[in-house]
Amino acid sequence: MKTLRLYPWVIAVLLSPAHSAVPLSSIDKNSIWGRYVPNEYIVEMTDVQSLGRRTRRSQLHQDVYKEMRKRGVNVEVKKEYDVPGILTGASMTLSTPGDVARMNEIPGVEAIRPVLMIPSPQPIDMVIVDDPNDPHLPDSLSTHIMTGVDKLHEEGLYGDGVKIGIIDTGVDYTHPVLGGAIGPGNKIIGGYDFVGDAYNGTNTPQPDNDPLDQCAGHGTHVAGIIGANPNNSYGIIGVANGASLAAYRVFGCTGSTSDEVIIDALLRGYKDGMDILTLSLGGVDGWTEGTSSVVASRIAQKGIVVTIAAGNDGAYGSWYTSGPGNGISVISVASVDNIVIPIQNVTVKGVDHNPIPYLEAIPFNVTGDLPIYATSTNTSITDDACSPLPSDTPDLSGYVVILHRGTCAFTQKLANAAAKGGKTFLIYNSDTGAWDSIAVGNYTAALISAEDGKFLVEQFAANASIALNFPQVGGQYNLPDAHGGLVSSFSSYGPTFDMYFKPAVAAPGGNILSTIPVPLGSYAVESGTSMATPFVAGAVALILQSRGKCTEVGLAVRDLLQTTASPVLSETIEGSLLQTATQQGAGLIQVNRAVHIRTIVTPAQLLLNDTANFHSYQTITITNTGSKKVRYKLEHVAAGTAATIRDASIFASLGPVPLTNATARVKISPKSLTVGPGESKTVSLSFTAPAADASSLPVFSGFINVVGTNETVHVTYLGAAASLKDQTVVDNTDSYFGVTLPIILDGAGNVQTNPTNYTLVGSDFPTAVFRMAFGSPALSFDLVDKDTTIANPVSRRGLLSFNRPFESVDKTVRTIGSLAEVAYVARNSDADDADDNGYNALSILGTFANNSQIPDGQYRVLMSALRVAGDPSDDGDYERWLSPIVGINAANP
Ligand SMILES: *[C@@H]1O[C@H](CO)[C@@H](O)[C@H](O)[C@H]1NC(C)=O
Ligand SMILES: *[C@@H]1O[C@H](CO)[C@@H](O)[C@H](O)[C@H]1NC(C)=O
Ligand SMILES: *[C@@H]1O[C@H](CO)[C@@H](O)[C@H](O)[C@H]1NC(C)=O
Ligand SMILES: *[C@@H]1O[C@H](CO)[C@@H](O)[C@H](O)[C@H]1NC(C)=O
Ligand SMILES: *[C@@H]1O[C@H](CO)[C@@H](O)[C@H](O)[C@H]1NC(C)=O
Ligand SMILES: *[C@@H]1O[C@H](CO)[C@@H](O)[C@H](O)[C@H]1NC(C)=O
Ligand SMILES: *[C@@H]1O[C@H](CO)[C@@H](O)[C@H](O)[C@H]1NC(C)=O
Ligand SMILES: *[C@@H]1O[C@H](CO)[C@@H](O)[C@H](O)[C@H]1NC(C)=O
Ligand SMILES: *[C@@H]1O[C@H](CO)[C@@H](O)[C@H](O)[C@H]1NC(C)=O
Repeated sequence: MKTLRLYPWVIAVLLSPAHSAVPLSSIDKNSIWGRYVPNEYIVEMTDVQSLGRRTRRSQLHQDVYKEMRKRGVNVEVKKEYDVPGILTGASMTLSTPGDVARMNEIPGVEAIRPVLMIPSPQPIDMVIVDDPNDPHLPDSLSTHIMTGVDKLHEEGLYGDGVKIGIIDTGVDYTHPVLGGAIGPGNKIIGGYDFVGDAYNGTNTPQPDNDPLDQCAGHGTHVAGIIGANPNNSYGIIGVANGASLAAYRVFGCTGSTSDEVIIDALLRGYKDGMDILTLSLGGVDGWTEGTSSVVASRIAQKGIVVTIAAGNDGAYGSWYTSGPGNGISVISVASVDNIVIPIQNVTVKGVDHNPIPYLEAIPFNVTGDLPIYATSTNTSITDDACSPLPSDTPDLSGYVVILHRGTCAFTQKLANAAAKGGKTFLIYNSDTGAWDSIAVGNYTAALISAEDGKFLVEQFAANASIALNFPQVGGQYNLPDAHGGLVSSFSSYGPTFDMYFKPAVAAPGGNILSTIPVPLGSYAVESGTSMATPFVAGAVALILQSRGKCTEVGLAVRDLLQTTASPVLSETIEGSLLQTATQQGAGLIQVNRAVHIRTIVTPAQLLLNDTANFHSYQTITITNTGSKKVRYKLEHVAAGTAATIRDASIFASLGPVPLTNATARVKISPKSLTVGPGESKTVSLSFTAPAADASSLPVFSGFINVVGTNETVHVTYLGAAASLKDQTVVDNTDSYFGVTLPIILDGAGNVQTNPTNYTLVGSDFPTAVFRMAFGSPALSFDLVDKDTTIANPVSRRGLLSFNRPFESVDKTVRTIGSLAEVAYVARNSDADDADDNGYNALSILGTFANNSQIPDGQYRVLMSALRVAGDPSDDGDYERWLSPIVGINAANP
């Protein structure tokens, strides 16, 4: 039985490039690889306009069904779509996936897209706040000051008259700060529940008209960021608190949802006349071509502004942004940390020292004065506690255990200390580590500064009589965030494998106070690109209110936000490199400037592609919409170049992705010019990629500033200083499991090295285990004759087109049958489990992809993966792997 693997949304784990091998025994052989809902497809049909001989739209679906029946294709139509220019077609369950091939031949069938699962949105961390007088609350105005929203509020812009559709877990409209009611005339004007409380992504949705959510809570936090009425006891002020909101509920209380549900919600929001649609959700993707990404992008091309989270996977490095935020025309949103962090102090006893701030919004539930125990007295060791602690370690249950950040996951260190009884932990930062929420599982553990950590370790080493006390009241401290204003370390890195610019812009998303459902506590501080995304949606409402709600402005909004954004540094150190645009987008939004700017520059982003497809020559157009002529100067400011691949490896650098100062050269012509009021002029740019070590797959980016008399705007460029086609896509190393991949696991879970027969009874089936070091536009597994060799490859299998899967088996190829084919595959992460996308497992359970029985016989499994930007018809652009002989002896075991 197939079970789906889901991509969780919460990850802020620091992993080592050389983590110890994941045990093979941890592989869940029953996990099927992919985010795909088995046998479900969205079939797009050609619009009637482009099909000359068809006259009536309403006939289109019927005509296609008739053709299907004629061809014996058996489908169950689940839902029909008829939104011209966005989506015409139907979602359907096929009884045999092999039917897809036959459907491809039907005139009017434009594309057949798989349905993907989207995991439920989760904040990076969440702290429920219950005392309005708690001084630890973040200054809720701080995020508005960071982005100029406060100035627009002073001017009386609150987003009045703008409609924002929130596609999320629903909303608790009974919350007084959100108006207390739903329906016309209220803040929450309506919406729809597509799924019901019990929906978890695998069972049947139970839709109704009421999008109330009092169990999940995420959508209520999102709604408060956009729309919280001011004058509440917490001082929360929605960015666009004059806007009208609609809640489209696509998640139940727990679990995931599917593309199909998200598409329903997108189409509903479009038809309901929303001006803005905002989605704080997504799943690991890396490509622009996912089904919901494509639909969201088409809606954006109609002038509806669509804001979508970039993802919280910054720890996993580049090429890892989420869909549907990867949709080409949507606004994918990165997160910047708030300038203050609400935290707690621990009191130092026995020696004279200031209270030590620890990164936790509410105090540890630990009383009494506890002595400390440091797992290492050498503060320059970073892999501290990555291995089990020595046998002479005392029982740590009565101590506060002090650990150093670095090398392995926090939870690995904590588990090792907990194995010796440890219960309470403080992890001191590395000298360069971010002051950010860290993923500590359910351990009582928090981050302290490097300085305080070193002090404690020194005291421990000196045998000082020192103890720590965690005050239950009065320890609150509103710490100015040294990392505030920088990109949150959890914020996902692009670009996409097809070299699109993701994320687009950044907004405050780290340490945000907002509303949650009344039964869950009413208010909470949360972090995530989920929080940054509604901030941008609210900002867009202010722009639309000021510049006018119309298609033209809707289409220009992303450019306005990007050209006026404020690029942020990679570190707080003055003079440090600008953060790569692959993590910050065009910068932190400056909404006040986006509203008032008179200099319009297009395009806002210059996509230079990789060295093999380099778009060196670019033209930008400067339009002066002001009333006076302006002299503009152009200047180039490079951002740090991201070394996206680790040294001497085929794997992505983990976050924070290292930056270098190897920068592009740009010839600008003319370098200055005068543009009269109402006039437009063009400037030519010619880019040369930086000379950088191609083996690190450097992704360079930066800004061309257009400096006018009173205002400066910029366009952002992005390119790769290497050919993506040279990048190895299939993990062929032993770094992950300690055995060279790919492998076949036998029924006992051992690596198969010799020919082996399988009965397919019980657990006696083979499982292919593989990892993708980089994405692939086309990945397939076939059973081939046992005598096949790689030297005599099964050549020219041909491209699986995303639109036309299961079609392209070259007739000269002697594959016996296809086991799986997927287009636009994401890369894997460094996480040590399949749930976090660490690896993929594909079990062979007796049938081919088209559900037909695998006949008994002696085979090999052939894996073929097309390289990024590879030519589908060029054999040399595929990576292939051939398994040992796999015998199927099902009939005569
Ligand atoms: C979803 O809920 C159904 C019951 O309605 C249950 O059988 C199934 O296991 C659940 N799936 C997940 C992934 O939790
Ligand atoms: C909020 O309170 C201030 C000061 O008490 C008052 O001037 C303002 O009108 C109030 N705003 C709303 C929306 O009630
Ligand atoms: C918390 O610790 C910091 C740094 O030692 C100190 O400046 C601050 O006053 C302390 N606050 C409280 C409430 O203890
Ligand atoms: C704090 O810990 C005590 C004892 O371990 C426990 O009884 C209590 O419920 C905890 N309080 C909270 C708020 O978790
Ligand atoms: C949390 O604690 C429970 C036991 O109290 C344990 O079973 C579970 O695995 C822990 N989860 C994590 C993420 O550490
Ligand atoms: C970059 O080039 C590849 C290969 O031609 C192409 O598939 C991709 O769409 C290009 N990306 C952009 C942003 O132009
Ligand atoms: C660039 O970085 C290298 C080493 O990382 C350094 O030696 C060099 O001075 C830097 N160049 C500039 C212009 O900052
Ligand atoms: C620039 O600002 C100054 C002062 O506000 C103003 O007098 C001047 O007209 C502005 N120039 C342009 C070109 O808008
Ligand atoms: C597998 O089964 C085939 C056919 O029954 C037989 O010829 C072969 O020897 C078997 N191989 C092994 C390794 O048992």
